[in-house]
Amino acid sequence: MRLPKAGTIEIAPSILSADFARLADEIAVVASAGVKMVHLDVMDGHFVPNITIGPPVIAKLRKHSDLVFDSHLMISEPGKYAERFAEAGADHITFHIEAADEPRELIETLHELGCTAGICLNPETPVEAIEAVGPLCDMVLVMTVHPGFGAQKFLPEAAKKVIAVREIVGPDVRVEVDGGIDAETAPIVVAYGADTLVAGNAIFAKTDRIAAINAIRQGCR
Ligand code: DX5
Ligand code: ZN
Repeated sequence: MRLPKAGTIEIAPSILSADFARLADEIAVVASAGVKMVHLDVMDGHFVPNITIGPPVIAKLRKHSDLVFDSHLMISEPGKYAERFAEAGADHITFHIEAADEPRELIETLHELGCTAGICLNPETPVEAIEAVGPLCDMVLVMTVHPGFGAQKFLPEAAKKVIAVREIVGPDVRVEVDGGIDAETAPIVVAYGADTLVAGNAIFAKTDRIAAINAIRQGCR
């Protein structure tokens, strides 16, 4: 599965707020709403103060879904684990610029592994940090909350960095936002130049996930 080419607005439901005992079913429901990708939040309890899933869970989910697995590695030493995530079935792998010593090399490694590559900036990280390597990526992820937990409040100042990131990467690289995205904040980030919207709580905290996805879509028209 390949990351859709830039130029369309895509919603990437984050399973962080889904029922972890029923992940395959939860992903099937959002797939039925027509999304092309699902956002998998990987946390190591070191880079962020929370622990979630790793390659074994991704490998099991792979058998149940043909959506693009947008894997967001909130881990220290991402280069050490890149191959394991690729083998597990991650299609797109995003690592944090704050966690990588050699981001350019890691982007190359991800491409050699057959994955698309993403780099992520925390709210306090300036856009200059990705100036050199952003254009080498397939997608740049701008955090609009501090990473680690779902259902946090959208940070408007962090979101404004999307404008500068879009200027750096041009039209052919996706710009993704993650944190506090719902029907009200989605139009703000789309106006700034984002085209890929991660949403966890706004979808999985609702009984009707499909209506929740459509509500976010409506806001972006
Ligand atoms: C936060 C994660 C997000 C999270 C977003 O550290 O990276 O992907 O699931 O959740 P919401 O949409 O609830 O802010
Ligand atoms: Zn995420």
